[in-house]
Amino acid sequence: MKLNIALLPGDGIGPEIVEQAKRVVDAVSEKFGHEINYTEGLVGAVAIDKTGNPYPDKTHDICMNSDAVLFGAIGDPRFDNDPNAPVRPEQGLLAMRKKLGLYANLRPVNTFKSLIHKSPLKTELVDGADFMCVRELTGGIYFGKPQGRSEDGNTAYDSSVYSKDEIIRICKLAFEYAMVRRKKLTIVDKANVLATSRLWRETAQKMEPDYPEVTVEYMFVDNAAMQLIQGPKNFDVMVTENMFGDILTDEASVITGSLGLLPSASIGLHTSVFEPIHGSYPQAAGKNIANPVATILSAAMMFEYAFKLMDEGAMIREAIEKSIDSNIVTEDIAEGVSAKTTSEVGDWIVDYIKSK
Ligand code: IPM
Ligand code: MN
Repeated sequence: MKLNIALLPGDGIGPEIVEQAKRVVDAVSEKFGHEINYTEGLVGAVAIDKTGNPYPDKTHDICMNSDAVLFGAIGDPRFDNDPNAPVRPEQGLLAMRKKLGLYANLRPVNTFKSLIHKSPLKTELVDGADFMCVRELTGGIYFGKPQGRSEDGNTAYDSSVYSKDEIIRICKLAFEYAMVRRKKLTIVDKANVLATSRLWRETAQKMEPDYPEVTVEYMFVDNAAMQLIQGPKNFDVMVTENMFGDILTDEASVITGSLGLLPSASIGLHTSVFEPIHGSYPQAAGKNIANPVATILSAAMMFEYAFKLMDEGAMIREAIEKSIDSNIVTEDIAEGVSAKTTSEVGDWIVDYIKSK
């Protein structure tokens, strides 16, 4: 196949981890005879520095004209520590999600056998945990208007806004995932307090009869935060609004042992974006120590979800699993073994694929 991939490395460790994912994509493509054409785009703080805009039109055009987007990370402490910055790198990511209509963010959580001991949770709790978090990505408090400050600057406000149609389209996807998995769907909300959550619950309840085989459970987000840690194996598919999904998936990464292991796929109306769930980890930028696995797994998801090339995805997954089993791991998950660098992990995975 001929495939056009947009590469958006972004900030912090983004360029290093995307570089490794690209090498893995190249190795797999060579093996299976695909021709890849990459186009690189600016996003985040680097884009602000070069163009003043965290998601320049040119980058959007590149994304729209590609078959998939491989994304690194966004964020820079220069902006984190300046609450009054007129433009922020994160606005680039949000603009990209909105403009590409990426309403669903799929965040699979599963464990690696040889890393179970890395989780701070008891082995018997996490061994075999395997669930999919479906996070709504273009609505809620991230995008709701009004948002801002009062004239005197002493009051600030954000608005959480959801329409029924937005809820239906994300819940439909979640129900469909539940149907092809273990047929259990947990709908996470805060319906005891929030009007948007009550609309979610009412809307989802009306959809239930369309999926008679799916067991549906409603859970308040505070309870879900606890259940995730107490019994992660009880979850199959979880669907929730934008901010709850953001928070719960960082929490869920503790189950696997490191935030550096969780990939995601953002899908919607236009080109899909594949990105690790972690941030730009500025402390590690340029040091060649960051874990590239979440991004390489995101590339596996890209083959599977965007190109429907399952064998290619499976080969990447196999290579990652073998690398972890062989202790070829970065410092975040190296315990009792010497840590490898970002590029050494990439080298090993590329070599493994080439040797197949
Ligand atoms: C994520 C990130 C982003 C988010 C930030 C960088 C805007 O935390 O993808 O989870 O909050 O969605
Ligand atoms: Mn997040």
